[in-house]
Amino acid sequence: MVTEIRPDTAAIRDAVESACRAPSLHNSQPWRWEWTGERLELYAVAERMLGHTDPSGRQLVLGCGAALHHARVALSAASWIPTVTRLPDPSRPDLLAVLDFDRPHTVDARDAALALAIGARHTDRRPFAAPTTLRESLVDLENAARREGASLSILDAEARSDLARASELSAAIREGDEAYRQELAWWTGRAEPGDTGVPASALLDDEAAGDIDVGRRFPTGAGTLDTAQPKADASALAVLSTRVDERIDWLRAGEAMSAVLLEATAAHLATCPLTHVTEIEASRGIVRTATARTGEVAGFPQVVIRLGARSARGLPTTSRRPVDEVFVDRSGRDG
Ligand SMILES: Cc1cc2nc3c(=O)[nH]c(=O)nc-3n(C[C@H](O)[C@H](O)[C@H](O)COP(=O)(O)O)c2cc1C
Repeated sequence: MVTEIRPDTAAIRDAVESACRAPSLHNSQPWRWEWTGERLELYAVAERMLGHTDPSGRQLVLGCGAALHHARVALSAASWIPTVTRLPDPSRPDLLAVLDFDRPHTVDARDAALALAIGARHTDRRPFAAPTTLRESLVDLENAARREGASLSILDAEARSDLARASELSAAIREGDEAYRQELAWWTGRAEPGDTGVPASALLDDEAAGDIDVGRRFPTGAGTLDTAQPKADASALAVLSTRVDERIDWLRAGEAMSAVLLEATAAHLATCPLTHVTEIEASRGIVRTATARTGEVAGFPQVVIRLGARSARGLPTTSRRPVDEVFVDRSGRDG
């Protein structure tokens, strides 16, 4: 009997399709995948960087890291655990990762549960009922972050009010930043099927958005998502941090963000990543100090994750670009 040592092109394409369900800043989907027939390569697409919101490209790399982790999860559930080499070529900074394969693995229940979570996860911007099951899943969430080289801290009440202050500060600074506002408007309310951007159906109407004290402010009138649940947001806030703030740390932080989001989804929690407070130095400093006070050595806050009880009322799925726009099959073998 011959045992395959690597997946075939169809399996790789399926994994890439799942990877593309990963979250990205304003659903910009800044990635490209290339399959050589032997290895899968992940590239960052600089043209999809949001130059005013994310001038360093940190969030672009975070999104690609999330896609990389989604791909790893999808491949595991399809019985493949790749060896990942991150940033393999200093002369090609856009090549973020190479995935090599040498043998199949036996799928377990955990692989299957995380893969299922890829389809069930949404960015939920509604107010949340308190995540009463968080206590039971907290160790899993912290371990998920740690395994990927990041740390996760749940903010206490005092730190949470600091975060609301950071959110307010970032909104005030952005109010006078016309280039930022134009960029946000361009990416908001415009996603058609098979497109990029944040659709109106995923954004709260203005009144409901005002009830969340830590959310990013989207353009007035952009949202149509209604909310029947608690008006007051009783979410918990988790801060995902790295010790260092280089490109490799952003990639690992993206993988950790995906790991935490999928773990939380599998535990029936609702999630919303937030970065408006980490993309401006002044508000990032507040988040950093507030996180450090929780006891962990905080390092650099990358993403805040709002966590709550999952509502019985589902959310529409935010669309993605067709997989063939982001997947290049160079194998010339069976594709
Ligand atoms: C790096 C990054 C930053 C994000 N920042 C925010 C944010 O500040 N506010 C927000 O509401 N959503 C934020 N999101 C969520 C994206 O808008 C969301 O992932 C995208 O629209 C796709 O929707 P989905 O997550 O429901 O699939 C962020 C996601 C990533 C990966």
